[in-house]
Amino acid sequence: TLKASTVKALAEKHNLTEIPPIYNFQTLSTIDQAIASGGAGEDQEPIPVIDFSLLTSGTPDQRSPIVRNLGNMCRDWGCFMVINHRVDEGLINKILDSCKEFFDQEEEVKREYEGKHTSDPICHGTGADAAVTEVLFWRDYLRVMVHPEFHSPSKPAGEVLAEFTNAIRGMVRDLLGGISESLGLESSYMDRALNLESSLQFFDANLYPPCPQPELAVGLPPHTDHGLLTVLIQNGINGLQVQHEDKWVAANIIPGAFFVNIGDQLEVFTNGKYKSVFHRAAVNNTATRISIAVPNGPSADTIVKPVPELLDNGSCPAAYAGMKYKDYLELQHGSGLKGRAWII
Ligand code: SIN
Ligand code: FE2
Repeated sequence: TLKASTVKALAEKHNLTEIPPIYNFQTLSTIDQAIASGGAGEDQEPIPVIDFSLLTSGTPDQRSPIVRNLGNMCRDWGCFMVINHRVDEGLINKILDSCKEFFDQEEEVKREYEGKHTSDPICHGTGADAAVTEVLFWRDYLRVMVHPEFHSPSKPAGEVLAEFTNAIRGMVRDLLGGISESLGLESSYMDRALNLESSLQFFDANLYPPCPQPELAVGLPPHTDHGLLTVLIQNGINGLQVQHEDKWVAANIIPGAFFVNIGDQLEVFTNGKYKSVFHRAAVNNTATRISIAVPNGPSADTIVKPVPELLDNGSCPAAYAGMKYKDYLELQHGSGLKGRAWII
């Protein structure tokens, strides 16, 4: 097992002008490089935006084009940004600040949270991943299970963490209501079928310190997320990229907006109509980037399978087998899903 120091500790070593070879993706074979970094290229096409206030409090006339747009974004992009989401700006700043405080603690303090297993309810770790063993990622992380069981480290404090993740869960249920409607289902359909009352929710904070050779390192390699919807915020520094029509598009996140992406469970549920989007994180050599990704799933015991209403035995058979969400997570931890969703 890896007992490497954090990327933060490494980056803060004075006069670090080159990254250690273990972080250098160009040491890999061409094929492994492509898998691990996704290849070069970065496009500037804007990510679609949805006005949440029109989805939740607009008149039916205002709502129906919004629902249709939401469906189109899910189909064509697998991700979108959410503006006017009503989550308090002060709360967002507080949670970002307290993640910075977490990472700024002494290494020994953070080591108390070093996970033994990826399913530990609180886990601090650094750059490794089972599927790409030859190189390390330029990223430290803190991962906390927050629902239906709530856990919290000392930072972010439980109160702030609960308030933030509850607010995100509420928004996700409303978004999934709109997404249900966009599929021709009742707005409460997913809420019931996927047991969102007891949805499994995580809080993943990522730290990407400045990297002296950003073109040789990878923050996070291309992956899809495991759940239904992941909601992401950041400390004003960009770095996220999404795959769109075979190109990598920089997600220049509107300040104050949420970035939301579809995960594997929603792809299965919609029988592939809405696909989970591949995304990756690039690093830079000037600023520390902090991102917070909140993956929201169904309840752990829910068997997720293509929704019968979208199937037709002749023209549209089920393309995915049903599986309990927790079994899917277990498979993913064991890297049983090759190249697919193997990052937690
Ligand atoms: C990011 O830091 O922008 C990506 C985080 C993730 O995919 O979990
Ligand atoms: Fe992700």
